[in-house]
Amino acid sequence: MAEQTRKILVTSALPYANGSIHLGHLLEHIQTDIWTRFQRMRGHSCYSVCADDAHGTPVMLKAQQLGISPEQMVTQTRDEHHADLVDFGVEYDNYHVTHSDENKELCELVYDRLNDAGFISKRTISQLFDPEKEMFLPDRFVQGTCPKCGAEDQNGDSCDVCSATYDPTELINPRSVVSGAEPVLRDSEHYFFDLPQFEGMLQGWLQSDAIQPEIANKLKEWFEEGMQQWDISRDAPYFGFEIPNAPGKFFYVWVDAPVGYMASFKNLCDKNGLNFDEYWGKDSDAELYHFIGKDITYFHCLFWPAMLEGAGFRKPTGVNVHGFVTVNGAKMSKSKGTFIKGRTYLDHLNPEYLRYYFASKLSDAVTDIDLNFEDFAQKVNSDLVGKVVNIASRCASFITKRFDGKLSTNVLEPELVAEFHLAEASIATAFEKRQYHKAIREIMALADKANQFIDANAPWVTIKDESKQQFTHDVCSLGINLFRILVVYLKPVVPTLAAQSEAFLNDTLSWESSQHVLTDHSINKFKALMQRVDMDKVNAMVEDSKENLEPTVTLDPNSPLAKDPIGETISFEDFAKIDLRIARIAKAEHVEKADKLLRLELDLGGETRQVFAGIKSAYQPEDLEGKLTVMVANLAPRKMRFGMSEGMVLAAGPGGEDLWILNPEEGAQPGMKVK
Ligand code: 2FM
Ligand code: ZN
Repeated sequence: MAEQTRKILVTSALPYANGSIHLGHLLEHIQTDIWTRFQRMRGHSCYSVCADDAHGTPVMLKAQQLGISPEQMVTQTRDEHHADLVDFGVEYDNYHVTHSDENKELCELVYDRLNDAGFISKRTISQLFDPEKEMFLPDRFVQGTCPKCGAEDQNGDSCDVCSATYDPTELINPRSVVSGAEPVLRDSEHYFFDLPQFEGMLQGWLQSDAIQPEIANKLKEWFEEGMQQWDISRDAPYFGFEIPNAPGKFFYVWVDAPVGYMASFKNLCDKNGLNFDEYWGKDSDAELYHFIGKDITYFHCLFWPAMLEGAGFRKPTGVNVHGFVTVNGAKMSKSKGTFIKGRTYLDHLNPEYLRYYFASKLSDAVTDIDLNFEDFAQKVNSDLVGKVVNIASRCASFITKRFDGKLSTNVLEPELVAEFHLAEASIATAFEKRQYHKAIREIMALADKANQFIDANAPWVTIKDESKQQFTHDVCSLGINLFRILVVYLKPVVPTLAAQSEAFLNDTLSWESSQHVLTDHSINKFKALMQRVDMDKVNAMVEDSKENLEPTVTLDPNSPLAKDPIGETISFEDFAKIDLRIARIAKAEHVEKADKLLRLELDLGGETRQVFAGIKSAYQPEDLEGKLTVMVANLAPRKMRFGMSEGMVLAAGPGGEDLWILNPEEGAQPGMKVK
């Protein structure tokens, strides 16, 4: 009996609007797109929506850095993200942005309902505040010395060296990443969502089929630790939506981001006359699935269903969690060139290679997916080009040249055809359960059989025998039909290859069409459907990804940079922390028992600093007195064998006699800031 038509809504996590789409995003968007395309091919109604995640401190600061408004940046980034996704064959029915009217309205509606139902409370909390920037600092914008192991420059919430987690207020010598200023504690009233009230409901929901078993296990740990009230407000300045009746208080980005799923769909409803409540209303009979990465499970499996329940909306039917992408067995790395942006990939390689490769590795488990370039090239070349496309290219030209472009009326080997038809059920089940690797394995096993059939019947030999023309026609026609069924099964994964095959086959491929055979049917001239992966192009893509960071000029071999290349880069924020000042060398003298050092007294226009500088090989003290130079004025004082050094003088050159202190132009005054 035919399956009833299902009503489905699917989402992928909303990419932040302050960075480019990269391979990590693509795993998820491709996973979602394959599932959506599969459902549509099966005749179900399946809408997919996404958007850019526009709000929050990082987006606000990035826009400030670029000198544009956050609205402007978000619009540009949204368009760029959408174009990248479309070029990977990822088709959303709507790609919106969370900084939208629909989202504002829906956030207010959700909040008002939660508030009316008594799920919102207020309380004053103390947080680190940047006195220079006049803003509260999220954990990742505070750095300092780890309170547990003493490692310097650790993040506000955890230490990379000893893995300790702590509160940013526990950091020793904390610094604002934004301004370098020392943060102070400041009180502010915050709004909280009463998550503990939903514990019972969540326990029940987690036992349904909505989430994978390993995620359910992980969530059990969180229940054991106890649910906490969730802080949903942030103080101005914040790029986001203001909370109703709370001037200067904004919704935390993780409130309006998931509501953004609803808002993107609402925008689609308004454009296409769909009924929003049929999908989001409490009694909705539609299915709702979120595809997400494992790092944001907490938000989607605890806060989000609780918010939906509390505000009188339906909960997700499923939250489908995937693992991270690694490249060549390691975390994506900017310096190795394995942090690959979608656009850089597209500049070099066919997007369908990646869609196929990810599909061949994706399952419904939360395991990480490794993109190994050797394996990638080998798999695509051997499976898609060597097995699938090869079937058509081996048979098509005979049909075109010798049989008038028409497939035979006979069907040779009906058992083989039946086997291809029969595989439909288990391939469909594998796609439905997101076990794409299993579907691909089955499809490739069929492709092997099709090739064996052609090998065994060698049409390139029989074509030369006049008495075997009908046989040759039947063999090639069956070859084309087997190819056609394989393409039906692969269509959700490689839609462009499928579209080109449809043009060649002169046919439209629905899922159900896998059960048919084309007889006495005209096909079109075969054109190459896919090129082999060229490793040179893969390598060029990796090189291009490295160029995002490293100098692109070719160095003169005599350049000092060639001998002493620039190593790790520092961020602009780090650079901006250096306070360079003009200093007058008031006094310079030898230091007893020091081979390299001179002791300098530097006049900073009112303040005198003692600095020990390793420039003895190049200067006599008397040559320096009265000269102006540039110094790092905010270097923390260092105790040296000969006394305290309170800054650093800038000099350049290979060393020895060829060492020059920087001499600012005339007109510079001691104490002046160097810009
Ligand atoms: O982790 C992220 O990239 C978030 N921008 C995902 C948001 S998903 C949703 F909740 F909107
Ligand atoms: Zn530590």
